[in-house]
Amino acid sequence: MKFQEGVFLVAIFSLAYTQLVKGQPQPHEGCQTRCGNVTIEYPFGTSPGCYYAEDRSFNITCNERNELIFGDNKVIKISHGGEIRVRVNSSYSCYNSQGNLSNGVYYTFELGNLTLSTKNRFTAVGCNTYAFLSTYGVADYSSGCMSICASPPEPNGECSGKGCCHNSVPRGSNFFKVRPYSFNNHTSVHSFNPCSYAFLVENGTFNFDALEDLKNLRNVTDFPVVLDWSIGKQTCEQVGNKSICGGNSTCFDSTRGIGYNCKCLEGFEGNPYLSSGCHDINECTSNRHNCSDPNTCRNKAGGFYCKCQSGYHLDTNTMSCKHKNVGWTIILLGTIIGFLVILLGVSCMRQKMKHRKNTELRQKFFEQNGGGMLIQRLSGAGPSNVDVKIFTEVSMKKATNGYDVSRILGQGGQGTVYKGILPDDSIVAIKKARLGDSSQVEQFINEVLVLSQINHRNVVKLLGCCLETEVPLLVYEFITSGTLFDHLHGSMFDSSLTWEHRLRIAIEVAGTLSYLHSSASIPIIHRDVKTANILLDEDLTAKVADFGASRLIPMDKEQLTTMVQGTLGYLDPEYYNTGLLNEKSDVYSFGVVLMELISGEKALCFERPQTSKHLVSYFASAMKENRLHEIVNGQVINEDNQCEIREAARVALKCTRIMGEERPKMKEVAAELEALRVKATKHKWSDQYPEENEHLLGVQTLSAQGDTSSSRGYDSIKNVPILDIEAGR
Ligand SMILES: *[C@@H]1O[C@H](CO)[C@@H](O)[C@H](O)[C@H]1NC(C)=O
Ligand SMILES: *[C@@H]1O[C@H](CO)[C@@H](O)[C@H](O)[C@H]1NC(C)=O
Ligand SMILES: *[C@@H]1O[C@H](CO)[C@@H](O)[C@H](O)[C@H]1NC(C)=O
Ligand SMILES: *[C@@H]1O[C@H](CO)[C@@H](O)[C@H](O)[C@H]1NC(C)=O
Ligand SMILES: *[C@@H]1O[C@H](CO)[C@@H](O)[C@H](O)[C@H]1NC(C)=O
Ligand SMILES: *[C@@H]1O[C@H](CO)[C@@H](O)[C@H](O)[C@H]1NC(C)=O
Ligand SMILES: *[C@@H]1O[C@H](CO)[C@@H](O)[C@H](O)[C@H]1NC(C)=O
Ligand SMILES: *[C@@H]1O[C@H](CO)[C@@H](O)[C@H](O)[C@H]1NC(C)=O
Ligand SMILES: *[C@@H]1O[C@H](CO)[C@@H](O)[C@H](O)[C@H]1NC(C)=O
Ligand SMILES: *[C@@H]1O[C@H](CO)[C@@H](O)[C@H](O)[C@H]1NC(C)=O
Ligand SMILES: *[C@@H]1O[C@H](CO)[C@@H](O)[C@H](O)[C@H]1NC(C)=O
Repeated sequence: MKFQEGVFLVAIFSLAYTQLVKGQPQPHEGCQTRCGNVTIEYPFGTSPGCYYAEDRSFNITCNERNELIFGDNKVIKISHGGEIRVRVNSSYSCYNSQGNLSNGVYYTFELGNLTLSTKNRFTAVGCNTYAFLSTYGVADYSSGCMSICASPPEPNGECSGKGCCHNSVPRGSNFFKVRPYSFNNHTSVHSFNPCSYAFLVENGTFNFDALEDLKNLRNVTDFPVVLDWSIGKQTCEQVGNKSICGGNSTCFDSTRGIGYNCKCLEGFEGNPYLSSGCHDINECTSNRHNCSDPNTCRNKAGGFYCKCQSGYHLDTNTMSCKHKNVGWTIILLGTIIGFLVILLGVSCMRQKMKHRKNTELRQKFFEQNGGGMLIQRLSGAGPSNVDVKIFTEVSMKKATNGYDVSRILGQGGQGTVYKGILPDDSIVAIKKARLGDSSQVEQFINEVLVLSQINHRNVVKLLGCCLETEVPLLVYEFITSGTLFDHLHGSMFDSSLTWEHRLRIAIEVAGTLSYLHSSASIPIIHRDVKTANILLDEDLTAKVADFGASRLIPMDKEQLTTMVQGTLGYLDPEYYNTGLLNEKSDVYSFGVVLMELISGEKALCFERPQTSKHLVSYFASAMKENRLHEIVNGQVINEDNQCEIREAARVALKCTRIMGEERPKMKEVAAELEALRVKATKHKWSDQYPEENEHLLGVQTLSAQGDTSSSRGYDSIKNVPILDIEAGR
């Protein structure tokens, strides 16, 4: 809306408003709208057809002196809200000094359907005065007040009992009498108060003046009184849409409790009792708006608004127009910056979380894989002979080509062995435990600990380990030619081992075990000596492997109580029965290995007759029956070495005696075998083998209880032909 248009509209509204005030349309044309300076509005009127016809109370008169008269009283003001103010004479009685009544007027009022408002006060003025207000209408009541004083009260403007008293008026009365009385005809107070007055007056409009009013209140003959009016005798609800309230107005129940009144809606003004009496207020021209710039104010039905130019927007706090662009730019900029900050924060947080998660996972694996235990135990075990290198997960993955199937060297009870190629092109064997087997983790750690104490040319070398992966990895030197088991029984290699080879291997293993038992810084019991755990390199040098079950024996202890662990067929029956572990258990296992080397038979073979399933009993019975040559591998025996083989067989038998005490020490065994090699080919057979039956007995016990022995041992046996290609090749 343009400014000029606004001015034009304002002009029109002003014109219309003046017109309305001047010629207020009445139910009938030409009704008097003004009498003196009092405006007459419907439902009041001065002639028939001009006032609300249903109720004669609204019939008022404008007399020749231009006084608007209601009943006998002058009307001061009529308001739409349901009030009319009139002037009402006061009643009085005056006495002479003799106490004779000189002058008295008592008024009675009839209000028709109008009632006295509770905004009025019934007031009496005078000393030795009492006054009554008697009302008739809804019910008959009389009330009043009195004031007694011997001397003139000091003037303080208050009507508070000293020469003046007042009282509230009952609601809803339309007929009443006002009458003042005196106790002693004012004889005692006549000098300053000859009269008694009683009148009704609107609350707050009469200020009592003790000096003047007690002497002569007759000069002020009448007082403003408020009367209530309303339409009909029904409430808004009862009258419904039949009310005389006009357009843009609303009905409300009269405050006096009878009938209803009307008022214009918010933002409208005018006479709500006329059909189109309420008209919109133009707040913009009447300065009833709160737009900071009046030029922006626009009127609308029932209100206004502040209109800003395009590119500006209204600030509702100050009701002023602000540059829109600035706001938009700020909002846009803010949004972009906020978005960027959030984006940055989120990506930062994600990065952090990812990093933390990775680190946490690796740490978790490290702990789970016994990293803590290892570090603790390594530090507790004193200086170690072997440098255990810690490999990273990444390098392990790279070395095994992502644990490729083609790199698998073998799978066994302890896990999978991969061939790995390190960045410096060196070839290693990487042993990976089976997933989710915590006992294996412990064995891995044990192996690291044990191997870290050993530095021997016939022990497979541990290069390092990796604990960051879900399952731990051990890294060994790569031994090329497989296990002794493969060479003796397997199909992979031609069993081309000569007696010289076999004897040397036996001597090497015996020497290694002897070293472990006595020479190493802490005695070590291997606990799982078997051909599958003896590896051979390209010159068929023996390398003892798989120290997972091994035990470090503290110096002050001869034997150790442990959970029975080992491989069936090699397991020391005494250890099996008592659970007491000592170095003689390894001696027994070595004896079995030696028997395997001599005979080429497996330690446990179910294809042999019932009593000979176990190699020890098979071997022992053969020796007893003096038919050793029958069970010795045909490729091995020749005319020159018969004596040596027989001697070696005797050593093997000694090693596998039931009682650990009766078995020789590993050192003695190694020495005897060494002596065999050194000795020239002397043929000497001995026929003394006293302990065969005991061997047999021990073996039977073992076989009967075989199923209850450690499951690992049983697994090992089951898997021997296919799977038990143990670590470290
Ligand atoms: C009306 O006129 C009377 C005198 O005639 C004056 O006393 C009174 O104050 C006026 N009332 C108004 C509302 O102008
Ligand atoms: C009072 O109002 C009723 C209707 O509301 C009407 O019938 C009655 O005549 C009125 N009385 C006077 C004195 O005007
Ligand atoms: C209206 O009031 C006047 C004066 O009080 C009276 O003469 C006239 O008869 C009244 N009209 C009606 C219809 O009562
Ligand atoms: C009120 O008093 C004045 C003056 O005393 C008198 O002229 C008038 O008639 C009185 N009014 C009534 C209704 O008696
Ligand atoms: C006052 O009243 C008494 C009787 O009560 C009477 O005798 C006397 O004449 C009266 N005086 C006057 C001035 O009227
Ligand atoms: C007061 O005046 C009345 C009559 O005017 C009279 O009857 C009454 O006795 C007077 N009382 C006193 C105490 O003078
Ligand atoms: C009467 O007037 C006094 C003072 O003007 C005020 O304090 C009081 O609340 C009023 N009473 C009523 C009922 O309006
Ligand atoms: C009241 O009227 C009396 C005469 O009736 C007069 O002597 C006096 O001065 C008037 N007082 C006032 C305040 O008008
Ligand atoms: C008044 O309301 C009644 C029902 O409440 C309806 O039938 C009638 O038409 C309405 N009259 C007007 C003028 O709205
Ligand atoms: C109510 O007011 C609006 C705006 O002034 C006007 O257009 C409309 O005609 C009015 N309604 C009635 C019934 O007077
Ligand atoms: C301006 O007036 C409107 C309507 O009268 C009101 O809703 C709004 O709160 C007022 N704003 C201020 C800031 O006074």
